[in-house]
Amino acid sequence: MQLPEIEVIFSCSEDNFLPAVDVWIVIDVLRATTMITRWFELGGTELYPVRNPDEAKKLISDLRERGSDPLLMGEVNGIPPEGFDLGNSPAELNYKIVQDHYCGVISTTNGTVALLEAASSGSPVIASSLRNASAVMDHALTLGNNIGVLCSGRKGRPCLEDTLCAGALVDDLNFRYANKILMSDSAKIALTVWNDRGENLEEYIKKSDHAKFLEHIGFSEDIKFCSEYDACTVVPMLFNDKNEHTILRSVIGSSKPHAERIKPLEQNKISHPELEPVKKINDPFEELLQYTRKPSQYFYIHNHSHNNYNNHKSKEHK
Ligand code: MLT
Repeated sequence: MQLPEIEVIFSCSEDNFLPAVDVWIVIDVLRATTMITRWFELGGTELYPVRNPDEAKKLISDLRERGSDPLLMGEVNGIPPEGFDLGNSPAELNYKIVQDHYCGVISTTNGTVALLEAASSGSPVIASSLRNASAVMDHALTLGNNIGVLCSGRKGRPCLEDTLCAGALVDDLNFRYANKILMSDSAKIALTVWNDRGENLEEYIKKSDHAKFLEHIGFSEDIKFCSEYDACTVVPMLFNDKNEHTILRSVIGSSKPHAERIKPLEQNKISHPELEPVKKINDPFEELLQYTRKPSQYFYIHNHSHNNYNNHKSKEHK
């Protein structure tokens, strides 16, 4: 059985080189992926991540033309831009807001950009925060055992809270496979930060630059909320909607408490057959095809690979 390997990218920038992995887990603890997690936790069904407010407003009008009533949420410099219905504060999101809309569009400085960067890799993409970290790893392992973790970071540089969450994911994976996983150096560094966290995640995260900024502009409640570990089991994943827009949907959710889910290696081998390694495929197109054999649910990416994918797909169906 091929043991899992995990790679961590500490921050997302436009010229990111993303190595080939079976699945990308994207993190933006303060606050985009926590906001996304909370949206689905409260019953939201669809959420469109976009790169900036202008794209958000354009998409909102397209969706409204098609009879949808999406909520426009997000931030620039931590606060909602002009014309937005809501900011990017998970502590402010509530059941009534979500139940009134179910569908939303979200634009943030780093988090939604990182999701879309990961989507341009060709691999499935999952949004993780501390709130849903174990459920995310449960699902990531059903997609393969070469796992990439992309931290959004802050202004193109590493940030403490995303690195901490990446370390939590590395620690979780290591626990499941009895400390036998293959870790990149960056994964080892993230694990070191996680092991340095002490007793109180909120106090640790408050040391970060972005937490200090959020406290300064009046969002202290969000830091507390974003520090809650394994508070839910929603797993937001990127898909293509029927109009080729990138959309987040929650693929899984269970009420199993954290402790029940995480079992040492021996029990996993018995109770979680899906943890068997995915067949390693060398031919990139063959690798791409493995996803086309599943319902057309995974996001495909960049134009060039999109054309190749289309050509390849037509060949496959001849
Ligand atoms: C980000 O995308 O960097 C964060 O979501 C910013 C924030 O919410 O304050």
